[in-house]
This record gives sequence, structure tokens and C-alpha cells, in this order.
Amino acid sequence: MDNMLKERINKLKQERNAVIVAHMYQNDDVQEIADMVGDSFALSKYCMNRPENTIVFCGVDFMAESAKILSPEKTVLIPVAGAGCAMADMITAEQLKEFKKQYPGYAVATYINSSAAVKAESDVIVTSSNALKVIQRMSEKNILFCPDRNLGNFIAKQCPDKNIVIWQGFCPIHHKIQKEDVVKIKDLYPNAELLVHPECTPEVTALADYAGSTKGIIDYATASDSEEFIIGTEIGVMYQLKKNNPYKKFYIMSEELICPNMKKTTIESIVNCLEKGENEVFVPENVAKRAKIALDRMLELGK
Ligand code: 13P
Ligand code: SF4
Repeated sequence: MDNMLKERINKLKQERNAVIVAHMYQNDDVQEIADMVGDSFALSKYCMNRPENTIVFCGVDFMAESAKILSPEKTVLIPVAGAGCAMADMITAEQLKEFKKQYPGYAVATYINSSAAVKAESDVIVTSSNALKVIQRMSEKNILFCPDRNLGNFIAKQCPDKNIVIWQGFCPIHHKIQKEDVVKIKDLYPNAELLVHPECTPEVTALADYAGSTKGIIDYATASDSEEFIIGTEIGVMYQLKKNNPYKKFYIMSEELICPNMKKTTIESIVNCLEKGENEVFVPENVAKRAKIALDRMLELGK
């Protein structure tokens, strides 16, 4: 990216007293200009602790909403309105209410990939990087988990003392990874470690050397003595993987692992958003208040 554009963005950030954050699945140039690139958990915490009063959130709706809920006094802008998450759309607050009615007395643990209204119906929120810790530390034994069936199964297997009933949502992007393709690519690169996101199916996760959040995958690859890695998550993580490990080799499971909503954010949309202050994220106060209780519990248990 040319220096003039970088300077323009910096000037606009100063004028608006803004910080730019980006998820690991964003386009490479967006990750390059962001002040912080992280997974869902790291970004939520970072936004809370920043002194700037405006956050430009390069990600999808639920992430920007979570930032707003955790920092209600700040202005949160999303460069492209309507960048949703297909998995988050797989459960509505009404559906969760019905699910709760079927299982009275169960606590609700909800993946952060969910709407603010669904979070408001939940007892605790988890992300892929803290789900195991949070659920192990919950005092309740009977738990409803939504919306991701794969993360739910991944956690349930590691928590035999909990009784976890799982909603059947999933991420269509991670579901593109088939066990047969994993076997083939492992044959092709026998010395490579397989690193996947827990949104992959259990058949795929079972073959992995490591399953964890986007940041977890990057940290694992950086710390590992291996020189080659097969990556089973959205293609955007390749940017940070290569940047942090220029001498290691990374093979993405498929070039089709693209989350279309994550890729909607462009540099132009960020400039536009900074200039006009458009696409401010609002969460109704009664929803935000209840969702914050569940998010705060995550921050407490996930410490
Ligand atoms: P992370 O929390 O691991 O960044 O994942 C978010 C996500 O949407 C994965 O598909
Ligand atoms: Fe949602 Fe899947 Fe995109 Fe993550 S990759 S934001 S879970 S649709």
C-alpha cells in the first residue's frame, strides 16, 4: 500500500480519535493497516482497553456488536453494513427461548458467533480460544450450547463431567473441509502438522495435531519446531502465519476457504467509514444490558 494512503488513514484516525481493529480473516491489506489484528476474544478485550473513543471494526456484525456491548460509551463503526455470519444466523433469540423451554434448569453457553439478542438470552459467552476454560469453570453441570455443533462437540468431549446439549448450527466455510481431502493432503505433505479451527467437523478435528482459535493456530505454528503446516481454517489466517514465520511453509486445505462477509471490507470502505462516520453499530439498551452480563461472565471465567 502506498505511503500517501497510509498517511491519509492516519490523519483520519487522528481527526476521529479512532483505532482500527481487524479479524484474522480480513483481506491482507486491511490486516496491514489495522492497529490490531486478532481473534474474537483478543479483539473484544483490546477494544475495551483502548483510549480512543471510536473503534473501526473490520470484521463481521457479531464482533462489532460485542465490542459495542463491552464498551457502550464508545462509537463503534463497521466499514460495511450487513457483513453477517452465516453461523450466527442459524439461531434466533426466539429459537433459543424455545430450546431453553425444552431443557428447564440448564445454563446457556453461547458461542460469540451469535447475535446480540441471542447473547442476551444466554448465561455465558465463549469464544473458540476460551470455550474449554469457561465451560470447565462453570458451576452448572447441565448446559445448552449454541449455535456451533462442532465447537460444542469438541468441548463436550473434553468435559466428561458436564451434560452438554448442542444446537445444530455450523459454519458453511469450515464445513467445506472434508476428511477425504485432509487424508490426501497429509499424504502429499507427510512432515506437515495439521492445524485446524474447532469449527471443522469432528472427523477433521480428530486428524489434527492442533485445534484452536485463529490466534491459537498462529501461536502454535510460531512456537512449533516443525517447518511445514497444513491449515484448516479461513484463508485470511495465511497472512499472519506467513508474516510471523517467513521461513516456514504453509499449505491451505483449499483455496475455497473464503468467508465472503469477512472479505467485504476494503481499504476504500475503511476510508469512507472514517470520513463519514457511517455504519455506526447500535444495540438496543435492554438487549445490550443482558448480553453484557453474559460477556462479563466470559471475561471473568476465561481469565
Ligand atoms: P476466532 O475467534 O478463532 O477468531 O474465530 C472466529 C470465527 O468466526 C471463526 O470462523
Ligand atoms: Fe461466521 Fe464461518 Fe465466517 Fe467465521 S468463517 S464469520 S463462523 S461464516
